[in-house]
Amino acid sequence: MALFVFDFGGQYAHLIANRVRRCKAYSEIVPNDISAEELQKRNPSGIIFSGGPHSVFEENSPQIDPQILELGIPILGICYGHQIIARTLGGKVEAGKVHEFGKADFFPTGESKLFEHLPSSLSMWMSHGDQVTVLPEGFQTIGTTKDCGIAAMEHSEKRIFGVQFHPEVTHSLHGMEVLENFVALCEKGQEWSLENFVEEETQKIQKKCEGKKVFLLVSGGVDSSVCFALLEKALGKDRVFGCLIDHGLMRKNEASEVKAMLAKAGFEGLHIENAQEFFLEKLHGVAEPEAKRKIIGDAFLEVQNIVSERLQLNPEEWLLAQGTIYPDTIESGGTKHASKIKTHHNRVKKITEMIESGKIIEPMVELYKDEVRAVGRILGLPEELIARHPFPGPGLGVRILCAKEENTLEDSAAIEKNIAENFQNDLISDAKILPIKSVGVQGDGRSYRHPCVLKMNRQEKTLPETEKWQQLEVLTSQIPNHFPVLNRVLLLISGNLEDMTFQPRPQITKDRITTLQEADAVVRNFCFENQKITQNIWQFPVVLAPVGGDEKESIILRPIESENAMTANAAHLPFEFLEKMAEEIIKKCGNKISHIFYDLTSKPPGTIEWE
Ligand code: XMP
Repeated sequence: MALFVFDFGGQYAHLIANRVRRCKAYSEIVPNDISAEELQKRNPSGIIFSGGPHSVFEENSPQIDPQILELGIPILGICYGHQIIARTLGGKVEAGKVHEFGKADFFPTGESKLFEHLPSSLSMWMSHGDQVTVLPEGFQTIGTTKDCGIAAMEHSEKRIFGVQFHPEVTHSLHGMEVLENFVALCEKGQEWSLENFVEEETQKIQKKCEGKKVFLLVSGGVDSSVCFALLEKALGKDRVFGCLIDHGLMRKNEASEVKAMLAKAGFEGLHIENAQEFFLEKLHGVAEPEAKRKIIGDAFLEVQNIVSERLQLNPEEWLLAQGTIYPDTIESGGTKHASKIKTHHNRVKKITEMIESGKIIEPMVELYKDEVRAVGRILGLPEELIARHPFPGPGLGVRILCAKEENTLEDSAAIEKNIAENFQNDLISDAKILPIKSVGVQGDGRSYRHPCVLKMNRQEKTLPETEKWQQLEVLTSQIPNHFPVLNRVLLLISGNLEDMTFQPRPQITKDRITTLQEADAVVRNFCFENQKITQNIWQFPVVLAPVGGDEKESIILRPIESENAMTANAAHLPFEFLEKMAEEIIKKCGNKISHIFYDLTSKPPGTIEWE
């Protein structure tokens, strides 16, 4: 008996199954078009419909067999899943006037079992443009938000529920309890735990690698290190070859630090391959983010082949291992209806072809970062390694924004005026849209849109800092919700908005890498020396952007809080701390940096990285 998650291509479909397993119920993912007959053969205890990037009223949008809704078992629709229930049963779904991305206050109404024992106001995470506007027959509204009248509905007799928010993401504060309430309505099946996962996965690795050895690509990050430990547990040290490819896009002194740290943790024989010139040459003249990502992903494989040939490793005897985790797959558009948000370095076409032909092993491909860390602890890895901030495979390659020409938004003056009229107040004295773009995730799809910079009135002394943060948080969600051409909101920390212009930077250069490495090193030092202030930060990307004054560029600070990178919010750091950090960056980067921004955007609508 299992609880089935129907996959409509949502970024969080797999995460739902994962969360259900944490409620100790066994769950499986099935395609959205499975027939009621087929599903019944598999003995379902309940069903959850995931979100998805489509509109239910679009031609060819993923649908369900309507008989599924007549099976008499509990059903929960989430986001697109909520809308598909409404539409299939005769209700109405329309494009909303205001979209909701990120945090929203949700108010349960009535006495639904879904919200049993929960407070009367819940902070939930949203990512949608469409909404249910007319209920199907027999349903009633069981919750609303300011901008969404039917944010939850139920047919209590049939035990069919729909919610517009995402209970599965960690940023939805009582989301797990909503899922637990739903799972409690379903009959119990098999149990699931991470300890069992380690044992079962060890056996699977042994089976898949019978008579073979593995070549593991190591970065020094949590995922590949835990993968290293798991492979060594299953196969023994002699059958695992760890190789760190130094693409020159790492942090200052990172390669040698990683080697020392891994040796201390017991991984002695790490090979470091210096491929800095190789990657830089491949990236020559490339500005477009996806093009950069694909080149970097392919280059990893090419270098791996060069090393294999040099060491005369017989391809018949070796498998390639990667510490891929589930977000890498889903963000790269790795399921039937999912949109591609960005191609992760371990999901380029050549890799997916190798996966199909059985040449790759990825023992943690079903896990999320918080689970990988838990597995690392089960395997006895040192906390120093497990607690490292995540760092993306393409490294600084996706943090050095490139553009040959400025990318100005056509009606930016009108939008700036609109923002000034509707959103400016005593705290915010100016707003400007930047002539560059960044990647975001909105309504389960990729966006590539402009950021808006807010200038804070430094003379504003009456408001306490917490209140300033509250106001900034509200503005940060309202601005992209009201202006679909924008997907990020930044705060100016240093420099003047008036003298900021586009600075052509068509590619990544050694000089730019050094500038960003210096800025990143300042940030790391500040974090290390002020651990009390920065202890809740999950990841702290530092981005170099081609806008500034006097031929100089800008640095964007992006400290975020998260648990598994599927959702995130900007960390609230003291303004004085940020100003000091900005001053030091400008000092250390010589005459290369004129402006410093602080990225306030949550995920969604932004992604953690800018590209
Ligand atoms: P985004 O930017 O999509 O990032 O919110 C989610 C998490 O994934 C990391 N990231 C990557 N990790 N290869 C990786 O191993 C990649 O290509 C890649 N791109 C993003 C990012 O740093 C964040 O932790």
